[in-house]
Amino acid sequence: MARLPVLILSLPALLAARPVGEAPTRTTADGVYAAAQAAEGETVWKEVCQSCHLPGALTTPAFRTTWYGRSLATLYGYIRREMPQLDPGSLTDDEYTVALAYLLRQQGMPSGPTALPADSTALADIRIDSLPTPSRAGSTR
Ligand code: HEC
Repeated sequence: MARLPVLILSLPALLAARPVGEAPTRTTADGVYAAAQAAEGETVWKEVCQSCHLPGALTTPAFRTTWYGRSLATLYGYIRREMPQLDPGSLTDDEYTVALAYLLRQQGMPSGPTALPADSTALADIRIDSLPTPSRAGSTR
C-alpha cells in the first residue's frame, strides 16, 4: 500500500509520455473547441469559405465517410494546405483554427471549456467522431 501514492503521482507523467502516433484519446464529441471560436469561425467562413461551402454543406454522409475516425490534425492540415481553393494557405493559423471550430459546430459537435489549439501536435490527439446516438445505443425501434 505504501507504493500507491507514488503510482498516482506518476500517472500523469506516464500519460504524457504516450508514444507519438498512438490512437487519440479525446474525440470531437468531448467539447474540444470554445463557443467563442466557433462564433469567430462563422465570420471567417462567411467571408472566405461560404462562396463555395454554404454553412451545413460539409455535413453530408460523404464528408463523414472521409473524415470521421481520423484526427483533427489531418483535417486541419488539409484545410491549411488546400483551402480556400483559389488561394490556399492565405489565412492565419488562428483563422484556420476558428474556421475548423465552426466546422465542428456545423457537424453538431458540442463546444467545451477549452479552446481548440492552433497546433497540429495537439490536434493529432483529438479524433473526429460522431456523437453517441441514443437511437443506436439501445432503442428498440
Ligand atoms: C473557390 C471555392 C472554395 C473555397 C472558397 C473554399 N473551398 Fe473548400 N473545397 C472546395 C472544393 C472544390 C473542394 C473539393 C476538393 C477536392 O475534392 O479535391 C473543397 C473541399 C473542402 C473540404 C473537404 C470536404 C470533403 O467533403 O472532404 C473542406 C473541409 C473544405 N473544403 C473547407 C474549406 C474551408 C474551411 C474554406 C474557407 C477557409 C474553404 N473550404 C474554402 C472549394 C472551395
